[in-house]
Amino acid sequence: MSSVTGFYIPPISFFGEGALEEAADFIKGRDYVRALIVTDPGIVKIGLSDKVKAMLEARGLTVAVYDQTQPNPNIANVIAGLKELKANNSEIVVSIGGGSAHDNAKAIALLATNGGEIGDYEGVNRSKKPSLPLFAINTTAGTASELTRFTIISNEEKKVKMAIIDNNVTPAVAINDPTTMYGLPPSLTAATGLDALTHCIEAYVSIAANPITDACALKGIDLITESLIAAYKDGKDKKARTDMCYAEYLAGMAFNNASLGYVHAIAHQLGGFYHLPHGVCNAVLLPHVQQFNTACPKAKARLGEIATHLGAKDATSEAAIEVLHQFNRAMNIPRNLNELGVKPEDFEILAENAMEDACHLTNPVQFKKEEVIAILKQAYEY
Ligand SMILES: NC(=O)c1ccc[n+]([C@@H]2O[C@H](COP(=O)([O-])OP(=O)(O)OC[C@H]3O[C@@H](n4cnc5c(N)ncnc54)[C@H](O)[C@@H]3O)[C@@H](O)[C@H]2O)c1
Ligand SMILES: [Fe+2]
Repeated sequence: MSSVTGFYIPPISFFGEGALEEAADFIKGRDYVRALIVTDPGIVKIGLSDKVKAMLEARGLTVAVYDQTQPNPNIANVIAGLKELKANNSEIVVSIGGGSAHDNAKAIALLATNGGEIGDYEGVNRSKKPSLPLFAINTTAGTASELTRFTIISNEEKKVKMAIIDNNVTPAVAINDPTTMYGLPPSLTAATGLDALTHCIEAYVSIAANPITDACALKGIDLITESLIAAYKDGKDKKARTDMCYAEYLAGMAFNNASLGYVHAIAHQLGGFYHLPHGVCNAVLLPHVQQFNTACPKAKARLGEIATHLGAKDATSEAAIEVLHQFNRAMNIPRNLNELGVKPEDFEILAENAMEDACHLTNPVQFKKEEVIAILKQAYEY
């Protein structure tokens, strides 16, 4: 195995109030004339899709819109968006939303230049050509999909989520303007914020962690500890929302390079099987998977380091895990998998599929199928 470490992030990112306008000016400066916006019905409803469309049109661009991305986007969403892109001869893609809109846009922009079907690119670096330039306007904090080289597309027929990990899907520009998040409802603030926390923790205990990803993960945890519950309680809290933009971006830098672990490997299966929200699945699984990870002494020690960043008094893995349960309670996350509607008779197939998900490869402990079932059982009965 090579000892070389790569570090991957978009070449340009804009943060802060006014980042939207900055991005629109940047696009105009590059002389692009035809854009496809990829978004979802929720973003249309809050008027953000029309707002961005108007901003681009005011700068001379012709703008087409694909706005039917569904949560946990599927192959049909990719095909329909690509059809729209081709009909309008779009040169760039502008995604607006959370992970679902960005992932759909990434798949569309990849197929536009590489051809074929999205399933052809499942796995690591399977494409040959750069995607169309993607400008990712992020509205949740969040998956960090606006900066990552991951795109997750559901195969509804097989009831699984495909992970496409490819440097070519990294957006050209990532945009985090907190004004787009002031109206994000508390339940979505909690779910997406706890997804970001999961990214930090899985990256910190990952076997591929390095000093850069460690720094990102720990600072991300600090900001989340300081600001997530504040943003949950008051969505218009400017400082909390701004902190969460930076926190989820730091979390993204960490996991984009150190990868993830069994929380995501299992959560992807729950999302694919029952159409459950990604962040909620992660939040419910996170303390239980970390408890099983303490079987690895190094991971146990690292969880102890995380504890103080989470605001615990003791620097122990037990204290860290207890804070994770407290966060879930403070933000009304369902207590267990039973409350999420997961069925014990599905544990076997869920565990089998989780073992196939590339995210588990960097988990500090490689669990056997029976152990994954034991995690599911514990998270169900908790
Ligand atoms: N590519 C990656 O690196 C990566 C990483 C983690 C997760 N994911 C994927 O991301 C998806 C989940 O993304 P998500 O959690 O961001 O949610 P989402 O994109 O599915 O959005 C959930 C809902 O929130 C609404 N919404 C989004 N922003 C809003 C705002 N500012 N105000 C009001 N409503 C808003 C949307 O309209 C939608 O109805 C999953 O499919 C998951 O697998 C991808
Ligand atoms: Fe995630």
